[in-house]
Amino acid sequence: MHAIGIDIGGTKIAGAVVDEFGTIVREDRRPTPAGQAGLIEDVVVSMVERLSEGSDPVAVGVAAAGFIDSSQSTVYYAPNINWRNEPFRAKLEARIDVPVIIENDANAAGWAEFRYGAGRLVSDMLMLTIGTGVGGAIVAGDRLFRGGFGAGAEIGHMRVVPEGLPCGCGAHGCIEQYGSGRALLRMANELADARGIGQVLADVRAEKGELTGTDVGDLIQAGDAGALAALRQLGTWLGQACASFGAVLDPQLFVFGGGVAQSGEQLLEPIRHAYLENLPARGYHPEPEFAIAELVNDAGVVGAADLARIRYQEL
Ligand code: BGC
Ligand code: NA
Ligand code: ZN
Repeated sequence: MHAIGIDIGGTKIAGAVVDEFGTIVREDRRPTPAGQAGLIEDVVVSMVERLSEGSDPVAVGVAAAGFIDSSQSTVYYAPNINWRNEPFRAKLEARIDVPVIIENDANAAGWAEFRYGAGRLVSDMLMLTIGTGVGGAIVAGDRLFRGGFGAGAEIGHMRVVPEGLPCGCGAHGCIEQYGSGRALLRMANELADARGIGQVLADVRAEKGELTGTDVGDLIQAGDAGALAALRQLGTWLGQACASFGAVLDPQLFVFGGGVAQSGEQLLEPIRHAYLENLPARGYHPEPEFAIAELVNDAGVVGAADLARIRYQEL
C-alpha cells in the first residue's frame, strides 16, 4: 500500500511515494516558492498529481513547520512562515482525490526515525531537528505524542532563558533561539566580532560580506577553532535542555536531525557533556543514547507518508 509524503522545507519541497516498509519508490523535489501560501499549495498539488501517476496512493501526508491541530487539518501558527490558522488540509483535499493529513515536520521526521531509523530498537525517544528552527518529536511507549490540542512536542519553544531573545512564536527565551541553525550563525558572528579564536570566521566574513550556514558548516568540517567553539555553545544549550527533557520523558534515546546535525560527533560530544553535567539524579540515572538521524533528508517524507497511511487505515 503506497502513500505519498510531502515535506515543505524553507528552501525546497520534497515529495515521495513510500511503501509500507518505509521504502521510497519514487521522488520529486522542487524549490519552495517565496511569498503567498497559495503558491506552496499549488506546488504540493502538482507534486501529488505527478507522484500519483501509476502508484495509486491511499493517502497523502504533508509535513509543515508549525503548530498543527489534532484533526491534522489546520496549521494554527508557523513561527518561520506566514501561516496563521491556515486550513491547509481542506484546501488540498478540494484539489486532491485521496485523503490528506497535515503533520508537524519534526513529528514526521521523528516518526520515521522511530520506525525505520536510529530509533527502531527503542520504545521511548525524543527527536530534535536543528535547522532554521528547533523541531521536536516525542515517541513515548511506542506512540507519537501529540498533546491535547494536537500541537504538543513543540520542543523548540520551551523557555530556557527568562526574558531571553525574542522568538518567532511571540515568546522570549525559547531554546529555538539558542539551539537552532540560525542561533549557530549568530554565535559564529559573535565570535567573529570578538576576534581571538573567531579570527578565521572574521576573515571569511570580511571576504564574503557575510557568513552563511554553509560557511560555518565548512569551517566545522575543516576543524576551525572558532566554528567549533560556536558549535560547542550550541551543543551545550541543547544538552542542558535534554537534561530537563530527560527528567520529564525519560527517553532511551535522543536523536538529532536537520542540517546542523551533519556535524555528527562534533555536535553530540558537547550535548552529551552538558546533559551529564545538568542531569537530575546525576550518577543514578541510566544513560540514554545520543545519535544522529539516519534517514537524513528522507525522514520528513517517509514519516509523513507513514503517518498518513496509519491514519487512513484507522478511518
Ligand atoms: C516550529 C515547529 C517546527 C520547527 C522545525 C519551529 O519553529 O514551531 O513547528 O517543527 O520549527 O521546523
Ligand atoms: Na513537533
Ligand atoms: Zn519560541
